[in-house]
Amino acid sequence: MRVGVLGATGAVGSTILEVLAERGFPADEVVAFASERSAGTEVGFAGSTLRCRALDGGSIAGLDLVLASAGGAVSADWAPRFVDAGAVVVDNTSYWRMHDDVPLVVAEVNPGALDEHRGIVANPNCSTMQMTVALAPIHRAAGIERIVVSTYQPVSGTGRRAMEELRAQAHAMLHEADPPAAEVYPHRIAFNVIPQVETFRGGDDYTTEERKMMAETRKILGVAEDEIRVSATCVRVPVLMGESESVNVRTRRELDPKECRELLAAAPGVTVVDSPSVGIYPLASDAAGRDDVLVGRIRRDPSDERSLNLWVVADNLRKGAATNAVQVAELLVERDLVRPAAGAFVSS
Ligand SMILES: NC(=O)c1ccc[n+]([C@@H]2O[C@H](COP(=O)([O-])OP(=O)(O)OC[C@H]3O[C@@H](n4cnc5c(N)ncnc54)[C@H](OP(=O)(O)O)[C@@H]3O)[C@@H](O)[C@H]2O)c1
Repeated sequence: MRVGVLGATGAVGSTILEVLAERGFPADEVVAFASERSAGTEVGFAGSTLRCRALDGGSIAGLDLVLASAGGAVSADWAPRFVDAGAVVVDNTSYWRMHDDVPLVVAEVNPGALDEHRGIVANPNCSTMQMTVALAPIHRAAGIERIVVSTYQPVSGTGRRAMEELRAQAHAMLHEADPPAAEVYPHRIAFNVIPQVETFRGGDDYTTEERKMMAETRKILGVAEDEIRVSATCVRVPVLMGESESVNVRTRRELDPKECRELLAAAPGVTVVDSPSVGIYPLASDAAGRDDVLVGRIRRDPSDERSLNLWVVADNLRKGAATNAVQVAELLVERDLVRPAAGAFVSS
């Protein structure tokens, strides 16, 4: 099987290469793609290197599976071309996620949705991904009615340039120099907290990231808008790796914290880390490099007997992106779903 990794020089793409190698993905050949700027650049893979190629009609031929993370505009244009050329695309960008013919899949939550794929499968946004891994078992057991979530998102969620921006600003400030001006973010991120992740499109009160969390959560859990109400506030914090979320969840039947802990302890992909009186709870620094979703601070909401509060943490580049993409690819292989589909996708 020939596997393409599009965006191979990026934060997500380089992690996809790492995870493919770690999990021994059954690829006969891995082909790395990046922009024309990086054509010829070497990226690490399985103790060796791959030379990046630029995208063109010739270079995309003959691939069976493509894991894409080169931004929405690139996926809008190139995912249908990969499908036309005979590949199945697992896309990490936001472009195809809400498309009717594209399943949006979290490996532990709705793997059955893969059966319906027509060439493109979407990987959810990292914030939605970790939240649904933690909430799906609760939804199955007690029915979720409402979710109120606030995120604490690391700069690696914006890619390599954002990580450099935080490092450069923090370094300058620790040396009592003026920090370099913000370029990636609308304000200085070092020693600051920014209540804006992505943009306020068309004068909306909510950012595009917040809208994604609300819509993608319902698509993954397979519910209508009035079945689960979701309210999200997405915040950028000066952390390099690991996303944290404060989640308030109201269930249809009362679920006590002990039962919730037991449910989550038995759930795939979740690790309960919850001994707060001795300082044990999920930390972004502990999640970095792991593939599971850590859940702790599980407690009853004192203002509502049917609501619980949780603290949910995961590595945004691994479970939030690369690991799920590779798990989806593994499921496609296991179920014999890596096969050419009709390339009827048209980007809007
Ligand atoms: N970071 C996260 O936690 C996360 C999580 C989930 C989803 N995502 C999504 O994944 C995508 C990539 O994110 P990232 O954080 O990895 O960004 P990044 O570090 O900035 O990497 C972007 C990658 O895309 C490539 N690229 C850019 N323009 C291209 C073009 N015209 N043709 C081909 N390749 C091109 C870049 O290649 P060059 O090096 O040649 O420029 C680089 O390999 C985004 O859509 C993002 O929303 C990110």
